Amino acid sequence: MRVFQIPVGPMENFAYLLMEEGSREALAVDSGWETEPITRVASSEKMRVKYVCATHAHYDHVRSIDRLAAELRAVTVAFEGSQAKPKVSVADGDALSIGGRDVLVMHTPGHTKDSVCYYDGENVFTGDTLFVDAWGRTDLPGGSPDELFASLHDVLMALPDETVVYPGHDYGEAPFRTLGEEKERNPALRARSADEFRRLTQD
Ligand SMILES: [Fe+2]
Repeated sequence: MRVFQIPVGPMENFAYLLMEEGSREALAVDSGWETEPITRVASSEKMRVKYVCATHAHYDHVRSIDRLAAELRAVTVAFEGSQAKPKVSVADGDALSIGGRDVLVMHTPGHTKDSVCYYDGENVFTGDTLFVDAWGRTDLPGGSPDELFASLHDVLMALPDETVVYPGHDYGEAPFRTLGEEKERNPALRARSADEFRRLTQD
């Protein structure tokens, strides 16, 4: 699988295209702002984009999602009940198929109730759940430090250390990093208890 990381908009967002190279079938993760940088990559790589997937419904991730899906002739995807109002609603453990490869939907609430990560077996797209060196805010509507701690420690940290973490914003020293490196460096992953993590979120 090949990942294209595409900076969009004025808030250091990353949109993504994930392509299965044999078939050139692909999915997009988040749309964010202007669609042109995303459609340009999709067309230069001759992709057939099936899905435009939202990590959560915050406007900086989904404001152009319907337009991007229309331009790519793809369908929108988000977690069930998401305010992103997708064409296809998904639940925890569902899989999206591109080129015969499964991309797993992992429900990871804590930043918002509808936050999900998408995992293809090698790469995980974490939206605002996990950033390089940092983690998502828990003080917005639907946010919960306890839920985010559980999503990080029980769900994401259960993936193999060599998994590459692709965040929804360019907030760290590097644009992406392996989960193993994040476990060593990221304070949210180093926190040993929900109490310790909650104290971090109050700093
Ligand atoms: Fe967000």
